[in-house]
Amino acid sequence: MKIDYRETTNDLLKRIDIHSQYGSKNIDEWMLDIIKLQKGMKILDVGCGAGKQCFSYHQFLDGEANITGGDVNLELLSQAKLENEKRGTGMEFLELDFNKKFPMEDNQFDFESCCFAIYYAEDIPYTIREMHRVLKQCGRLFSSGPMPENKQFFYEIIREATGKEIPPMPGSSRYSSQILDAMKSTFSKVDVHVFENPLVFESVEPFLAYTRASLSEDRKLWGSFFETKDDFENIMNAITVTSEKRLKQDGKLIMTKVVGGFIATK
Ligand SMILES: C[S@@+](CC[C@H](N)C(=O)[O-])C[C@H]1O[C@@H](n2cnc3c(N)ncnc32)[C@H](O)[C@@H]1O
Repeated sequence: MKIDYRETTNDLLKRIDIHSQYGSKNIDEWMLDIIKLQKGMKILDVGCGAGKQCFSYHQFLDGEANITGGDVNLELLSQAKLENEKRGTGMEFLELDFNKKFPMEDNQFDFESCCFAIYYAEDIPYTIREMHRVLKQCGRLFSSGPMPENKQFFYEIIREATGKEIPPMPGSSRYSSQILDAMKSTFSKVDVHVFENPLVFESVEPFLAYTRASLSEDRKLWGSFFETKDDFENIMNAITVTSEKRLKQDGKLIMTKVVGGFIATK
C-alpha cells in the first residue's frame, strides 16, 4: 500500500503540545510504566520524528543506556539532532526507511519502539520482520497507534461540518487488525495494552489548532478530502461553526484518544 504522507515539524510539535496541555493523562508515563526499561539497555526507536520517545527514555534511565533514533524525514531528524546537542544527551539519530533494509546488523537491540508510525510502512509484514531481525533474542518491540475507537468526537465534528465521509486513515483503519496480526505472526508473544486519554477543551481554539495540524495539507494524509484549492479553509470554517455550536450546547469539547500499546517479544 503506497502511502503519500510526510509529517511536518510544525504540525507534529503542535499536536504533541496540545496533547500535553489538554490531555488528562500522560502517555509517556503510561508507556514507561508498561515497557519496563532497564539501565544499560541498547535501544532503537524507529519513526522517531523529533525524538520525543528517545528523550523520554534517556531521562527515565538517567542517560545510562545506548539510544538510537531512526526516521526517514530529514527535517524531523535535524530537529532531533539539534535538541540532542542542546541537551547534551549523546544519542544517535540516523536515516532509516521502513520500506528498506534497516541500516544495522541482526540481533543488536534489547528494546525497540515505534510510536504512532508503523502504519505508514508500505509493506507492514516486511517492516515488522526488519524490526524483529535487529532485536536480540528475547528482545522486545513496543508499538503504539490508534485503536478504531480513537477520537470519535473529532471525526464526528468533521462529518457533521462537511457532510462528507472520512477517508480511511492508515492508522486507525488497520492498527488493531492487520498490524497486530503481523506482529503476532512474526514474534513469539504479543501483549496488548490500551490507553484512554480524554482531551478536554473549554474553548474552541485549541481544538481548531489540533484539527488544523491534523488535516494540514502539508501532511498529505487528507488530500482526497479537499476538492478545490480553497477547500481547506472552507472546511476549517465549517468545522469552526460546528465546534462553536457544540461548545455552546455541551459547555466543553471532549476528544478521547484511544491508543493501543503492543509489546512483542522475540
Ligand atoms: C506521527 S509521527 C510520530 C513521531 C514520533 N514517534 C512521536 O511520537 O513523536 C510519524 C513518524 O513516522 C515517520 N515515518 C513515516 N514514514 C516513514 C518511513 N517510511 N520510514 C521511517 N519513518 C517514517 C515520520 O517521518 C514521522 O516522524
